[in-house]
Amino acid sequence: EKGGYAHFMLKEIMEQPEAVRRTIQPRLADGEIVFEELEDERDLMKGISRIYLVACGSAYHVGMIGKYALERLLGIPVEACLASEFRYSAPLLGESALVIVISQSGETLDSMAALREAKRRGSKVLSIVNVMGSSIARESDHVLYTWAGPEIAVATTKAYTTQTVLLLMLGVYLARRLDRIGNGEYQEIVRELHGLHERIGMVLKNLELYQKTAARYFNHDSVFYIGRNQDYALGMEGSLKLKEISYIHSESYAAGELKHGTISLIEPGTLVVALAAYEPLVEKMRSNIVEVRSRGAEVVAMTTEETRDMIGSQASEVFVIPKIHTLLQPVLGVVPLQLFAYYIALNRGCDIDKPRNLAKSVTVE
Ligand code: M6R
Repeated sequence: EKGGYAHFMLKEIMEQPEAVRRTIQPRLADGEIVFEELEDERDLMKGISRIYLVACGSAYHVGMIGKYALERLLGIPVEACLASEFRYSAPLLGESALVIVISQSGETLDSMAALREAKRRGSKVLSIVNVMGSSIARESDHVLYTWAGPEIAVATTKAYTTQTVLLLMLGVYLARRLDRIGNGEYQEIVRELHGLHERIGMVLKNLELYQKTAARYFNHDSVFYIGRNQDYALGMEGSLKLKEISYIHSESYAAGELKHGTISLIEPGTLVVALAAYEPLVEKMRSNIVEVRSRGAEVVAMTTEETRDMIGSQASEVFVIPKIHTLLQPVLGVVPLQLFAYYIALNRGCDIDKPRNLAKSVTVE
């Protein structure tokens, strides 16, 4: 049932090219992004002045990526909210807010409760869900399914990448309808979506590097992830993956925030995973890497082919992802982080598919 892999997590990581292809392909036709699911409401954004992305855990980290992307694409305020906080805060709901709920299982109680609150207060709810016919899918006004297939490992991987790609596609689709994206950029993104699964395949080819790097660092007892903008969101996910399955204490920071406190924790030998793929801020990330290295940190970096030298020269190890439109980078960038966490947990002899104290879907508050 594990298809020859030692763990479901590894199997599901390796299934990502296919899962992403299955999620994208039915929504591309004649060089356009199409959402048949939204046919009955062609003006989804009519009267909408803000968007809330609501979810838990890794799905919330997808929401964080969505916040940066959708705000830029649509030019309206977009907020990523933890479902468990959402209904106890004072979100500005009502007809002019669109609520997007993201959930693999479609059964997470906190996300379900947020959905009900949003509907009760008159907002339209669209959900991004993996499990067909699940409670969240049933109660939403619109559902976009990720076609990741069943995910067994507690730590999510292929659900995360398919949710990310679907949310980004939705953003580009809406931007197109609202005439907020130029034809050239739109065509480029559509082209890159066609080949995205192959690029994920390329990232998966470097298993030995992730393995070797994990073997070098698995004994560390504290790790810091840093990044800016969408790379910060990615760091949140990388850090959760690591702590969830390896039980290593890890934290994620917006790189610019380090000097406001956390840098005091960096000492000789501290491991910092520096995410530096987001092109507009790569220079700034380089300075942050220099900053932590000068305090003795060991740095594992993630960057793109174009900035491999600039970032790689400052790091002990570097994971390189292929060139792709900035918007789609997180889909590639998360893969080395998943595998790094996986191999660290493997070295530490952890119960990878069923980490202690955790359930696949959390149906209690
Ligand atoms: O089924 P959901 O997507 O609603 O689950 C949300 C979180 O519980 C989930 O992403 C959790 O954080 C994962 N175990 C992370 O790997």
